[in-house]
Amino acid sequence: MKGIILSGGSATRLRPCTKVTSKQLLPVYNRPMIYYPLNTLIKAGIKEIMIIVAPERAGDYLNLLGSGKDFGVKFTYEVQDKPEGLAQAFIIGETFLEDDSVCMILGDNIFEDDLADDVKSFQSGAKVFAKQVKDPERFGIVEFDANMKAVSIEEKPAQPKSNYCVTGMYLYDNRVVKVAKELKPSTRGELEITDINKWYLAQGELEVAMISGAWIDTGTFDSLLEAQNLAKEKLQSKLVI
Ligand code: TTP
Repeated sequence: MKGIILSGGSATRLRPCTKVTSKQLLPVYNRPMIYYPLNTLIKAGIKEIMIIVAPERAGDYLNLLGSGKDFGVKFTYEVQDKPEGLAQAFIIGETFLEDDSVCMILGDNIFEDDLADDVKSFQSGAKVFAKQVKDPERFGIVEFDANMKAVSIEEKPAQPKSNYCVTGMYLYDNRVVKVAKELKPSTRGELEITDINKWYLAQGELEVAMISGAWIDTGTFDSLLEAQNLAKEKLQSKLVI
């Protein structure tokens, strides 16, 4: 299992704070934001991690994180020229992944749960992690049947069929590269991770697990403030980096 941290994007919602730096380098209490998803991967035992960044910020990431030696892992850096969607990570990462499966995590997603067991026990197909949210129209939303089996997934639905959103950590087998390469951009011009999840769902190979602890998508000023407090109150003892 290899890891990818997707840490590009334009972070327009956090302007002007992100005018001269990357969102994922902003402080969340006492660490740069990217340390939290990195901590999740490192705790799960992943040793080879690709960090995908926007071209103008690549040097900053290299200066901050280096080779990975200080963290006991190996980092590879890749540039995403334009933020053309989360699913593009698997095309950018094709050579890095070789024939391995992948755990992809978004550089602005903070998880309280320890997801190491899920990563270590992953065999094939896809596994995603769901959490109930108050604003389902902002996320990829998964609908369940009476037995809590996933039956549909929709990206930012105007009329959400549930309030369970797919959070920003995803496990896929190596077929994800081929699936990503066959995707067409959505109406907003992005290769959508929801379309990858739909493909695995159609094969009957999408597992959806619930997360019990806090999860924050740190994309707005309010969620950034929430993340700062979570980091201070609850996450310090869970950090290994
Ligand atoms: P978003 O929060 O959807 O996008 P953004 O960070 O560009 O912010 P905004 O909407 O305020 O302009 O992205 C989620 C995460 O994925 C975040 O860590 C940035 C990253 N990302 C990429 O690295 N490449 C991409 O093409 C996209 C869409 C996002």
